[in-house]
Amino acid sequence: MKIDYQEPSKDLLMRIDIHEKYGSANIDIWTNDLLKPQAEMNILDVGCGAGKLSFLFNEYTKGGAKITGGDFSEELLDKAREKNKKIGANIDFQFLDFNQPFNFPDNTFDLCTSAFAIYYASDLDFTFGEAYRVLTPGGRLFVSGPLPENKQMFYDIIKEATNATIPPMPGSSRFKGDIFNTISKIFAKTELHKFENHLTFPEVAPFIDYVRASLGEDRKLWTSMFNGNDEYEALIGKITDVATRWFERDGKLVMTKVVGGILATK
Ligand SMILES: C[S@@+](CC[C@H](N)C(=O)[O-])C[C@H]1O[C@@H](n2cnc3c(N)ncnc32)[C@H](O)[C@@H]1O
Repeated sequence: MKIDYQEPSKDLLMRIDIHEKYGSANIDIWTNDLLKPQAEMNILDVGCGAGKLSFLFNEYTKGGAKITGGDFSEELLDKAREKNKKIGANIDFQFLDFNQPFNFPDNTFDLCTSAFAIYYASDLDFTFGEAYRVLTPGGRLFVSGPLPENKQMFYDIIKEATNATIPPMPGSSRFKGDIFNTISKIFAKTELHKFENHLTFPEVAPFIDYVRASLGEDRKLWTSMFNGNDEYEALIGKITDVATRWFERDGKLVMTKVVGGILATK
């Protein structure tokens, strides 16, 4: 299944900022507690975007791990390289398309991670086969992504606003099923962990910022709902009306992110 997907950096950075401002829990702490990356480890972060996870591991290991971040968006890689330089880190950010062979020898990395990215892969057997190949024996793969019950309220508001069927999102529709099954077929041991984060919006505006940054993320996946900018703005208007009604009724808007973490060992 080919998925046509591009992530504009402003949308990704907006969503990260909203999670930091309004979230009840910190996914970085969850990730580090689960993985405990060590200095001297060789780590590959696939679909690294602006480098969120790569910088997290760099900080956690106090610069001791050898980290490579790979992404196919030069725009996001540039953001990551800019920060790398600014903070004096030594992470190698390079082009990587996870639908193509990874440009590394077999048995190279102790840890291969991918946060909210690799589930967009066209051919899961191929991509997770590549992750397996570049890991050392006993090396670990960590993939995070949305579980089916993720941000139910977001979809409910859009459903009420449009009366339309929400198109299936490749992340939440594939994560617990196809993605987990493919990984457990290839790897020796596979576990599913869960992280919940309640985002409480104290007003409607930041929720609408989140909606815009999310429909941007999956813009091409949402095309059954709008055609061109005028229809997009009309859709945002309807969503704002419903969100405002919910806010007036409940005094707040709470959206729960339910994230899965698949941890597998080679
Ligand atoms: C939601 S972002 C997550 C970025 C980062 N891991 C984070 O947690 O902030 C998804 C990322 O997947 C990348 N991506 C999508 N398709 C890709 C592909 N075929 N090869 C490499 N990266 C890809 C996008 O460019 C984007 O950076």
